[in-house]
Amino acid sequence: MTLFDFFQAGELPAPAVSAGEAVAIARDHFGLAVTATPLGSQQDANFLLRGPAGDPAGVLKVANAAFSRVEIDAQDAATGVLGGAGVRAARNIAGPGRAPIAEIPDCSGGRLFARIIAFLDGGTMSGDRYVAPPRWAALGTLVGRVSRALADFDHPGVHRVLQWDLQHADRTIGLLSRYVTDPGRRHLVEAAAAPAWRTVADLAADLPTQAIHGDITDDNVVCAAADRSPDGVIDFGDLTRSWAVGELAVTASSVLRHAGGEPVAALPLIVAFDRERPLRDAEIAALWPLVVLRAATLVVSGNQQAAVDAKNEYATGALEFEWQIFERAVSVPAAVMTGLIAGALGRPAAPPPARLTPILAGVPPGDVAPLDFSAQSDLVDGGAWLDPDCEETAAARAMATGAPAAATRYAQPRLTRSVVLHSESPSTVPTGIDLWLAGPVPVTAPQAGVVETAADGEVVMAGAEGTVVLRGRSVRPTAPAGRAVGTGAPLATAGPGRVWLQVRTGPADLPVPAFVRPEYAPGWLALTRDPVPLLGLAPAARPDGTEKAEDLVQRRGRALAGVQEQYYRRPPRIERGWREFLVSVDGRSYLDMVNNVAAIGHGHPELAEAVARQWRRLNTNSRFNYRAIADFSERLAATLPDPLDTVFLVNSGSEAVDLALRLAMAATGRRDVLAVAEAYHGWTYATDAISTSVADNPNALTTRPEWVHTVPSPNSYRGDHRGAAAGRYAPEAVAVIEDLTRRGHPPAAFICEPFYGNAGGIALPDGYLPAVYAAVRAAGGLAIADEVQVGYGRLGAWFWGFQGQHVVPDIVTVAKSMGNGHPLGAVVTTGAVADAYRTQGYFFSSAGGSPVSCVVGLTVLDVIERDGLQRNALVVGEHLRSRLADLAARHPLIGAVHGTGLYMGVELVLDPVTLEPAVAETSAICERMRELGVIVQPTGDRMNVLKMKPPMCLSTTSADFFVDMLERVLSTGW
Ligand SMILES: Cc1ncc(COP(=O)(O)O)c(C=O)c1O
Repeated sequence: MTLFDFFQAGELPAPAVSAGEAVAIARDHFGLAVTATPLGSQQDANFLLRGPAGDPAGVLKVANAAFSRVEIDAQDAATGVLGGAGVRAARNIAGPGRAPIAEIPDCSGGRLFARIIAFLDGGTMSGDRYVAPPRWAALGTLVGRVSRALADFDHPGVHRVLQWDLQHADRTIGLLSRYVTDPGRRHLVEAAAAPAWRTVADLAADLPTQAIHGDITDDNVVCAAADRSPDGVIDFGDLTRSWAVGELAVTASSVLRHAGGEPVAALPLIVAFDRERPLRDAEIAALWPLVVLRAATLVVSGNQQAAVDAKNEYATGALEFEWQIFERAVSVPAAVMTGLIAGALGRPAAPPPARLTPILAGVPPGDVAPLDFSAQSDLVDGGAWLDPDCEETAAARAMATGAPAAATRYAQPRLTRSVVLHSESPSTVPTGIDLWLAGPVPVTAPQAGVVETAADGEVVMAGAEGTVVLRGRSVRPTAPAGRAVGTGAPLATAGPGRVWLQVRTGPADLPVPAFVRPEYAPGWLALTRDPVPLLGLAPAARPDGTEKAEDLVQRRGRALAGVQEQYYRRPPRIERGWREFLVSVDGRSYLDMVNNVAAIGHGHPELAEAVARQWRRLNTNSRFNYRAIADFSERLAATLPDPLDTVFLVNSGSEAVDLALRLAMAATGRRDVLAVAEAYHGWTYATDAISTSVADNPNALTTRPEWVHTVPSPNSYRGDHRGAAAGRYAPEAVAVIEDLTRRGHPPAAFICEPFYGNAGGIALPDGYLPAVYAAVRAAGGLAIADEVQVGYGRLGAWFWGFQGQHVVPDIVTVAKSMGNGHPLGAVVTTGAVADAYRTQGYFFSSAGGSPVSCVVGLTVLDVIERDGLQRNALVVGEHLRSRLADLAARHPLIGAVHGTGLYMGVELVLDPVTLEPAVAETSAICERMRELGVIVQPTGDRMNVLKMKPPMCLSTTSADFFVDMLERVLSTGW
């Protein structure tokens, strides 16, 4: 029996089998009464069979006439092997007494092999939607397991020659590239395939071969119901014996088809594969060239199939995404990807530093001022990094002391290259250094070699230690191109001004950009060396000088109590903030939609100045007589209506609420407190006692002490009373107060957020607080408004949340915004209530109301008032709200947009009627939003609300960016 040989077989149109014929085959050969729906295939005919009740009965596969029986047998045998190894694989399910493989006459007089294989449920990963890194990793693990399981599998039917076998990629591409009718595209394919093939051919002797599935793509895996991670493999039609690493290359290329599927997205998959089936060095080196060859093969084969089988919609429909796979595969040079992959696998090439001699005559190494442009640098202050000239300005300042030169650091990501409101990480990592020279300086050759380029503005010389590049307006060559120069020979003059220095050691024809994106930096940096020896300095062991985010997470985990949780699966290391932006150490800027504490914005220079000034002058405690405490207490009290005129200053929201409870207890002589369900009020003993949110404490509802009583959460969206019926919450709460009083437990206080922040920014029903405050007062208790989150102008229409309900509480607690992140909290109440504290002793908080804290409080109020931040919250909040409402109309996952001003919540639901919370989706959406440059987090008892409470200086452009990114995620997946 001859096995298939693509290079002998010629064109392979899929067998012409209609759905009706498929039904007949199932009936006549396999005894099944089914319906048949065609499934796409390039060269076979596949049908999904359904039984009388519509349930999937299997997949009928009619193989292309070109394939022999032994090849079909081999596929059935391989599924058996995988099944034995615990991989879900679609096995042959011929019924008892039936031949597993039926021979069917072909219309052209030949025969076709048909069989029915099991339908594996769970759905594939097909399509172009975004796939999150953990799912790609799960796919890598699956492919690794398949590879291991098939390592010892052999069968006469696997020794075939397929166009998909990457061992034949050069021949396949050579044969089929003529079908790519667009000459531009054809050229690109051929130009990319040739060097990729050369690399692979050189490594071929060291690439192990074995049986491989050969087509484990997103289309050919099925996913577990629980977490949608792939755990099964279908379609063994390309089973063959080939390079083992080819299995991985095929899968990795399918990543490139998906939204967000740039080359770096394949890393989790590759790392997971390597854990399951370790890659050899030669396989690492061959992997990305094989991805390129796979992509090229897809393009040429797809074009050929479309040409010979124009009616095959599967083939014609695939052409554009196959082209996208190719474009992405070649968007990063293979040499860079190889370095990147080696680094991700923990096997980076670590070549010794370049042995180069200093090139600057008359500039002693010790006189070169270091320029740190990282996110942790103080050289660029405040938001100056957003100014395109900031590097020039900082360099000039560093040299103002008389230094003859100043130099940046190799590989150190630059804050100065960060870009705000960008969905992709910007190119922040330098592959060389910038050198500023105070005056003209002769430059000599750092090694023996040849001058490659000698032009005004650029001099390049190559030698055994690498290619040295000098670029800058002041660079003038003194040796002509082509000249062989010895170490120390005159090369150029440079200065005054900026000169770029780079040492390249990668392929000679591969220019290395000056700045690269952090994700790809390990790959690019592997093709360069630290140029500092050119200045006479020794390279640092860790060139960029930055502790990696993941290392820091580990260190923090060892030192800090684990219950102090972090945002995100893999949190970026954030070391900088400016206005509504946060910047990580790799220079990525994030739009911060969660930091309500930083009300006036991050890194506010006025606040920093005021604090520094006061620290230098005095910081002490409130028992001393200083002016700031009086000024601030007056200013704070003036924001509140009468009779709220008496202030306590503490350090946090928890302390403020704790104190408010003690005041209420002291003033009423009672102990019972009424709180609202789904609330959070703090972490101290008393505030935790009245916190009922199960998101913060899963046991909250069952572990409240007997003095705490709750009323239902007045949630008008998903509570017991919705929409217009939400008016019923108030009488219910009143009834609870009356009942408590009747039972001899009249409450000391009723406490709630006057705008329901913790539940996701939901407004209380109209009239709720007037009714409940009246009832609690009638019972002799006090009304406490917890304004820790929602107060201070954030709601836009009102400075205090209770104003929206037209009530005046007896006690107000405030923190967060008040200190813009400095520990500052307050309780404001009436003189009478405040005086009641005397029955408890006297009140003192060591740092509460300190001069520094009061200056912080005054400055924050100044900025809010002067910059109109409450109005900004109103205007930008309205804009945000209307855009989100528009988004909600198009995306049913959005159940509701809650909130007002810059306190909002987007509640995500799986079903608009049952309101089933989209919990996993909310968390995954937050992860993807971070990838796109937005920090947003889930909130609420079900963790299905995206909370939006950004700094109050949020601009309309930033609000638009947030909505645009959310739209992208909702449209392309998470
Ligand atoms: C409504 C409310 N009250 C009190 C607190 C406690 O404030 P802090 O974290 O400053 O102690 C919080 C904190 O999230 C809060 O949201």
